[in-house]
Amino acid sequence: MTAMTNATVVGFSGNLARPSKTRGFVEHFVNEIAGRHGLAAATFDLDDVGPTLGAARWTRDLDDTGRKVLDAVVGAEVLVVGSPTYKGSYTGLFKHFFDLIDPTALRGKPVLLTATGGGERHALMVEHQLRPLFAFFEALVLPTAIYATDKDFLDGVLASEAIRKRGEQSIEEAGLALASRRHAAAEDFAPSPELDDQPRSLIDRYWLEGIPRL
Ligand SMILES: Cc1cc2nc3c(=O)[nH]c(=O)nc-3n(C[C@H](O)[C@H](O)[C@H](O)COP(=O)(O)O)c2cc1C
Repeated sequence: MTAMTNATVVGFSGNLARPSKTRGFVEHFVNEIAGRHGLAAATFDLDDVGPTLGAARWTRDLDDTGRKVLDAVVGAEVLVVGSPTYKGSYTGLFKHFFDLIDPTALRGKPVLLTATGGGERHALMVEHQLRPLFAFFEALVLPTAIYATDKDFLDGVLASEAIRKRGEQSIEEAGLALASRRHAAAEDFAPSPELDDQPRSLIDRYWLEGIPRL
């Protein structure tokens, strides 16, 4: 686990083994977003959740270690998720971890999607597997998802300039989501009546008013 207290940018990686390219990939984005916005950061993987995950049917079945990871994920201001591609999708335990989370707990949370794979063939895994999962949670999934293959890493570290550039786009989007959230929170504390009749952005409405669950 790489952690600081009061983490607000949290990474969660679905790797089963260490060292892990995916974990490093997720951590790269967590640290970039946290560094640029003065936020604390923490990155976790399945190892950090610990051995109670596999047999857990409910959140209460996790031990303290696992529960702390789950609470950090749910409490994050921005979430960066990633998984190695296994059989064309995220790993089974990655899904199982999110199966334990309440369906409303990630609602409106900015989520950056990442994945790694052995080759290019499953590059749309981020769109066809990860995006629907976080859409289920009604999270604010950032538009740019990032997939990297084994050849994009050198000694486990991201080496591809093209992927870094694409990553910049995601980091920018995370910044916009954060700014909007802070703006909405500030307005909440200091309402300006003259603006009350103005249309708000969808994201502002999300934070301020919530959108009724249908
Ligand atoms: C059980 C298993 C299944 C895999 N299935 C795929 C796959 O369907 N498509 C793919 O591109 N890579 C696949 N891979 C390769 C991994 O996704 C790839 O090496 C990944 O980057 C490993 O990440 P890690 O270093 O974080 O474990 C598979 C690897 C394993 C062990």
